[in-house]
Amino acid sequence: MHEIIRQLDEKRAAARLGGGQRRIDAQHARGKLAARERIELLLDPDSFEEWDMFKVHRCTDFGMDQQAVPGDGVVTGYGTINGRLVFVFSQDFTVFGGSLSEAHAEKICKIMDHAIKVGAPVIGLNDSGGARIQEGVAALAGYADVFQRNVLASGVIPQVSLIMGPCAGGAVYSPAMTDFIFMVKDSSYMFVTGPEVVRTVTHEEVTHEELGGAVTHTTKSGIADLAFENDVEALIMTRRLFSFIPSSNKEKPPVVPTEDVAERVEMSLDTLVPDSPNKPYDIKELIVKVADESDFFELMPDHAKNIVIGFGRMAGHTVGFVANQPLVLAGCLDIRSAIKAARFVRFCDAFNIPIVTFVDVPGFMPGTAQEYGGIIKHGAKLLYAYAECTVPKVTVITRKAYGGAYDVMSSKHLRGDVNFAWPSAEIAVMGPKGAVEIIFREEKGDPAKITAREREYKEKFANPFVANNRGFIDDVIMPHETRKRICRSLAMLRDKDLRNPWRKHGNIPL
Ligand code: HXC
Repeated sequence: MHEIIRQLDEKRAAARLGGGQRRIDAQHARGKLAARERIELLLDPDSFEEWDMFKVHRCTDFGMDQQAVPGDGVVTGYGTINGRLVFVFSQDFTVFGGSLSEAHAEKICKIMDHAIKVGAPVIGLNDSGGARIQEGVAALAGYADVFQRNVLASGVIPQVSLIMGPCAGGAVYSPAMTDFIFMVKDSSYMFVTGPEVVRTVTHEEVTHEELGGAVTHTTKSGIADLAFENDVEALIMTRRLFSFIPSSNKEKPPVVPTEDVAERVEMSLDTLVPDSPNKPYDIKELIVKVADESDFFELMPDHAKNIVIGFGRMAGHTVGFVANQPLVLAGCLDIRSAIKAARFVRFCDAFNIPIVTFVDVPGFMPGTAQEYGGIIKHGAKLLYAYAECTVPKVTVITRKAYGGAYDVMSSKHLRGDVNFAWPSAEIAVMGPKGAVEIIFREEKGDPAKITAREREYKEKFANPFVANNRGFIDDVIMPHETRKRICRSLAMLRDKDLRNPWRKHGNIPL
C-alpha cells in the first residue's frame, strides 16, 4: 500500500510541473504566474479540489502519441472564495501553449456542467495559443462545446474570464459570452485575427498590444471591464468582485454588515450640482457619498466615460449603480454608453441585484457618426434593458432629464419603483433654449422676447414639480438625505415580486 501511495504522490508531483520547470521559469520571466499559482491566489487557502489531473489527449498525429502531458494544458476543479463555492479552469501555457484539445475542452465542460447543476460561478483563467493545431476539427468541436455551455449558463450562474496571456481566433468568443472580462496589462491580448493577418489583409501595421491588449480593450473597444497591472492584482480584484454578486440566479447577493448607518446624511451633496446648468460636476462623488463606506467597485471606468457603472452596497445589500456622468460629453447617451449600461442592467436583473440610477442627461448624442453607427438600435438596448428589468429600481434625477433619455433612464414609465428628484432637477422635452427656439421661432429676431420666453419655459418646466404633480416623481428630496431615502426605498422593495409575461425569449435590438 505504501508503495502505491508513494507512486501516486510522484505522479501528482510530475503532473503539477505541467510542461516542466524550464517552461514555468519562462512563464515567470514574462511576469506571468503558472496556472496552479494563479488558482492558489484566487481561491481560499487549501480549498482547491482538482479534477482530471491525469487526463491526457487522444491525438496520435504529428508525433503527439509520444507527448502526453498529464492534465493536458488545463487545471480544473472547484474551491471557495470567502467560503463560497466557485468552479475554476486555469489554462497552463507550459503545456502545448495552453492550446485547447478535445480532452482539454472536456475538462472545462465537466466543471461547467457541475457549476450549472449546483448553481455556482465559473471563473476561467485564459492563457492559450488557441485550438490545438495537431487535432484539427476535434479542437474546434471542443471550443463549440464550451461556447454552448457559456450560453446555457448565461444568466444562470455568473461567468468571469481573466485573460492572462494570448487569447486569439475563435477562442475569444468564450470570454466574450461571459459576464465580465478582466485583462492583465502587457501580458494578455485578445483578437480575432493577429497583427500578421491584419497586415496582409488591411495593410495596417499594428502591435499585439495596440490591436488587442488590455488598454485597447478597456478604452477603445469596451470588450474588457478592467485592466490590471499584473496577475496578482487581477486575481485579488476577482475575489473582490465576488463579494458583490450572488452564486446563481436563484440567490440574492451576499449581505455585508456595515457600521455605516443607513440614515447617514451627507450635507456636502447640497452643493454638488453647480448653479449654472452648463457647468459639469463629477457624478462619482454622489455614488461614493451614498454607498456604504464609500466603497464603489467601478466597471469599465475608461470606456464610454459618459456613463458610470459598478457595484456598491446600501445598508449592506449589493446594488448596481448606473449614472450619467456630466463631466464627459455633458452626460449624453451615445452608442457606447448605451451598450455599456444595458449589459450591466441586464446582469443586475439576471442576478437579483437592485439598480440605483442617477440621472443627469441632456439627451442622446446628435450627429452623423451616431446615426450611421446605429444609435437608434443601440440606444434602444438600454431602453429595453431597463423596461424588461424586474429587480428593484430606484432612480434619482439630480439635474437634467431631457427627452427620450428621461424615459430611458429608469423612469417611472419603465416601471421604476421609486423615482426621486433633487430640487435642481429639470424634467422636460429639451433644454429651455432649444425649446424656445422651436416654439417661438417667429420671435427669434427679438432677443429680449426670447430671453423672457426662456425664463417662462424654465419656470414652467425646468423643475421637478410638473413631473411630481403627475406622480412620475414620487418625491422631491433634499440632496443631503439621498442615502437615507434610497436605503429606505430598497428596504421597502426587498421582497418585490414582479414577473414579465411568459415567452421563449425577447428580441432585444441587437
Ligand atoms: C499546439 C501550440 C499552439 C497551438 C502554441 N503551441 N500554440 N501547440 N497548438 N495552437 C505550442 C508551441 O508549439 C510551443 O511548444 C509552445 O506552445 C509555446 O509556444 P511559443 O510559440 O513558443 O510561445 P510564444 O512565442 O509565447 O507564442 C505564443 C503564441 C504562438 C503567440 C500563442 O505560439 C502562436 O502563434 N501559436 C499559434 C496560435 C494559433 O494560430 N492558434 C490557432 C488559432 S485558431 P514548445 O514545445 O516549443 O514549447 C483558433 C481557432 C479557435 O484558435 C476556433 C474556435 C471556434
